[in-house]
Amino acid sequence: MTYVVTENCIRCKYTDCVSVCPVDCFYEGENMLVIHPDECIDCGVCEPECPAEAIKPDAEPGLEKWIALNAEYAQVWPNITIRRDPPADANEWDGKPGKEKLFNPEPGQGD
Ligand code: SF4
Ligand code: F3S
Repeated sequence: MTYVVTENCIRCKYTDCVSVCPVDCFYEGENMLVIHPDECIDCGVCEPECPAEAIKPDAEPGLEKWIALNAEYAQVWPNITIRRDPPADANEWDGKPGKEKLFNPEPGQGD
């Protein structure tokens, strides 16, 4: 098992998660983060830290596309270990349906 970042991170990107991860396995895209599945030690501490409830255990049903997306982009995006201020409109995007189509494959800035 591992943990994965899912749709509701898109455009919320609060980054509270990165400051608690003991193995620094978050990677940053332009508008969301992902978890590296081979580096995550399944400790679970990030899950309750996400204000958007975007982090889920991969055993949850229906997460196949997000499991694949985390694995793919963790290999190409830069590592992020330090919390940053979220986008100014992050709260407006929290819980909005259909954010999947707003996914941006471009890398973020990383640390
Ligand atoms: Fe990091 Fe633990 Fe979250 Fe995995 S479950 S991403 S190791 S904080
Ligand atoms: Fe995204 Fe939640 Fe982290 S919104 S950046 S998974 S705190």
